[in-house]
Amino acid sequence: MTQNIDLKCFPYSYEELERLAAENTSPEAFDYVQSGSSTEQTLRTNVQAFSSYAFKPRVCTGTKAVDSKIEIFGKEYPFPIFFAPVGNQKVVHPEGELASARAAKRLNVPYIASTVSSHTIEEIAEASGNGDRWFQLYATKDQDVTNSLISRAEKNGYTAIVLTVDMAPSWRVKDMRNQFLPFSRGQKPYPSIVSDPVFQEKYGESVLENGLEKTVRSIFPNPEFSWDQLKELKKITSLPIIVKGILDEDDAHLALEFGADGIVVSNHGGRMIDGCIPAIEALPNIAEVVKKRVPVFLDSGIRSAKDVVIALALGADAVFLGRPFIYGLAIAGEEGVHKVFSNQFEEFRRMMILCGTNNIDNIKNLKIIKIS
Ligand code: FNR
Repeated sequence: MTQNIDLKCFPYSYEELERLAAENTSPEAFDYVQSGSSTEQTLRTNVQAFSSYAFKPRVCTGTKAVDSKIEIFGKEYPFPIFFAPVGNQKVVHPEGELASARAAKRLNVPYIASTVSSHTIEEIAEASGNGDRWFQLYATKDQDVTNSLISRAEKNGYTAIVLTVDMAPSWRVKDMRNQFLPFSRGQKPYPSIVSDPVFQEKYGESVLENGLEKTVRSIFPNPEFSWDQLKELKKITSLPIIVKGILDEDDAHLALEFGADGIVVSNHGGRMIDGCIPAIEALPNIAEVVKKRVPVFLDSGIRSAKDVVIALALGADAVFLGRPFIYGLAIAGEEGVHKVFSNQFEEFRRMMILCGTNNIDNIKNLKIIKIS
């Protein structure tokens, strides 16, 4: 399905990106990426909510060279715009996560490999080479398997764990209508879990008796995960653990109490809970609780540079992009992912100049108001 498009004609707006991605994927794969759960209220309001904020740019600040760099866990990154963890990327492009990880390396931002990637932890590490990489963990119901996933991430050079806590089977109307499962189209299910030595040792027999998918589903997803288990994870790894999927400031408080080293304010891009608060609306209260003690990230609905400015001015240290880079992958593989991020970087850089801001602290200090 993937065409070789002339990168000079690569889309500059989200709308065009989405349209071209739809032309370059099967309708079912496009629905899988684009859609949200149930009535898709969360999917819509994530984006709409950004339009209810506006910032006041500064003028005559003598802005010369803008410095867009940020530092997270002692490492410098060129822009506060990172990859969201996204699984099953082979549904839109045969090279899947390998292409995205290579693009992240070239862009000098961390690649966050999902537990449910269509390539294994080891394969993605190889593609990412000496690039920075973090591992997104879905804690399974079996602590031994979870520990083994973490230890493989450590051995393979991942430098942080992004623990996603808002995942459970949701009501995905379009996927159900299309009878679409990412691995119903010839893909191997859950390669990182299935290739795991501890999983193989403990569940090999069950796989033979009940089949692979049923066996994996007996331990994953794990809606039973609780804060105590975060404490346990902190004991088995020295890597920073960033908790992804926080919307309530009381949960932000608990996450810190139980040892979180970072927080991602997110509702999974509207793919899990329908009708919940848009992520950007949840951000200010959470930033207030965190009080700069750990990095705060935001995803769900970032579509252009003004959204990044709004998120930073409301208290985020960096944002994650989800669907935008998957559309780039669908359109032109690694080059498409690279192009999506380079366009976002350049628009953000121009926005910094237009706002009279020399650096990220200036952006964070812009006054922001609610306009609706
Ligand atoms: C996701 N997301 C996700 N999150 C996660 O923690 N682990 C995962 O495996 C996935 N997989 C996944 C697949 C697809 C197709 C999408 C679109 C999203 C959620 C992702 O990390 C992020 O929270 C949202 O994508 C952010 O919203 P936007 O940028 O897509 O609006």
